[in-house]
Amino acid sequence: MSENADRSAPPTPPTGPFLLRCRPGEAILRLDDHLTRGGFEPVRKALAMDPDAVTDEVKRASLRGRGGAGFPAGVKWGFLPKDNPKPRYLVVNADEGEPGTFKDRYFLERDPFPLLEGVIIASYAIRANVSYIYIRGEFVKQIRVVEDAIRQLYDRGFLGRNVLGTGYSLDVYVHPGAGAYVCGEESALLESIEGKPGRPRNRPPFPAQVGLFGCPTIINNVETMACVPLVLRHGADAFLKMGVPGDGGPKIYCVSGHVKRPGLYEAPMGTNLKRIIFEFAGGTLDDRPILGVIPGGSSTPVLTADELDVAMDFNSMRAKGSMLGSAATVVFTEGTCPVAVLLRISRFYAHESCGQCTPCREGTGWLERVVESIEHGNGRPGDCDLLLSAAGQIQGNTICALGDAAAMPVQSFVTKFRADFERHIAEGRCPHAHG
Ligand SMILES: Cc1cc2nc3c(=O)[nH]c(=O)nc-3n(C[C@H](O)[C@H](O)[C@H](O)COP(=O)(O)O)c2cc1C
Repeated sequence: MSENADRSAPPTPPTGPFLLRCRPGEAILRLDDHLTRGGFEPVRKALAMDPDAVTDEVKRASLRGRGGAGFPAGVKWGFLPKDNPKPRYLVVNADEGEPGTFKDRYFLERDPFPLLEGVIIASYAIRANVSYIYIRGEFVKQIRVVEDAIRQLYDRGFLGRNVLGTGYSLDVYVHPGAGAYVCGEESALLESIEGKPGRPRNRPPFPAQVGLFGCPTIINNVETMACVPLVLRHGADAFLKMGVPGDGGPKIYCVSGHVKRPGLYEAPMGTNLKRIIFEFAGGTLDDRPILGVIPGGSSTPVLTADELDVAMDFNSMRAKGSMLGSAATVVFTEGTCPVAVLLRISRFYAHESCGQCTPCREGTGWLERVVESIEHGNGRPGDCDLLLSAAGQIQGNTICALGDAAAMPVQSFVTKFRADFERHIAEGRCPHAHG
């Protein structure tokens, strides 16, 4: 559980713990403390295997990327060209920018060694000798924690030349981010590490072919990396069984908004969303009825109260018309103005657009202005259709998925809460108490 959950009595951890080892207020920052808990056994195991066998194990485990898109990690590693003589890089995405998401911060702040074990295992598997961890710039304390953990690993021979006497060498560098959400998009992140403005690249070529400094590169999220030692420790079959078919492992769910116990909850991939909200997070404040739930971070389509009986895994959420995303669940109860919620989200995306693609640069500003005029009583008949049309023209028409991220909340909020939007327009004011 996260520090946020300290506010009231913590519930019994639902399963594990596999990933969230620290209880509220605890941290494991000394290598010796990690080693006494069996740390680095998975690394020793991996380094004794053939690198391709490590990749195969991760493939068999069906570990899907935890950064948002859910791409299978082992499959991605397998995309690296076999015949390219250039160096390869592993880049860890620790930008954690999606509003509502605060899971990677747990590892960066309180438990960095599982992440670093994952970095060593993954780098070995893809035959990289250099890895970068791109940490969002606002995470000043977390950057220090990870740098200190890396120093300890160098001192004890887990990093550097000839790791643990195996002949394998690995250097790991922390690269602080520069405060832009778009730098969490993997190709913008690479640009940022190269010292350029964080603007997404056109694909193809994909980073596995032409990535950092023009070399083959694998980019994975922090939580994805922290899952890798679990795969090695328990084996692919056991890891797969922790989740659902095709989508293995435990998952960290970030719950915030109008719930009694906001915080991080670890449970099997595919845990029912109602269980996460009502059992783990203790239900809603004052037991008020739910109006809506953003299930996987601010870009994921909102669900209404009657749509919550769904398994939180990548395929089930897609089938429900939304996305698991980064599993950042934001709950809002009746009495909340959905137009105000959407305005907050739309403002964020308009602010964070890098301006490279016209539909995103112009469109996100349009969306924000129209939602703002509706919320402030200046909406016009036809604005709902205007919003849907503008969002539809952004979606799929930009270099990176920031455009989709801006469009999807607009489409889902306007569709699912249309009566409320129309009421704002008809009455020329926000009908809710806060307005
Ligand atoms: C606008 C935008 C922002 C993103 N921000 C993040 C982020 O903060 N952290 C992250 O891990 N992935 C983020 N992603 C997803 C990455 O592009 C990429 O898919 C991910 O890092 C791959 O790691 P994974 O396969 O382990 O999930 C973002 C994507 C977009 C389009």
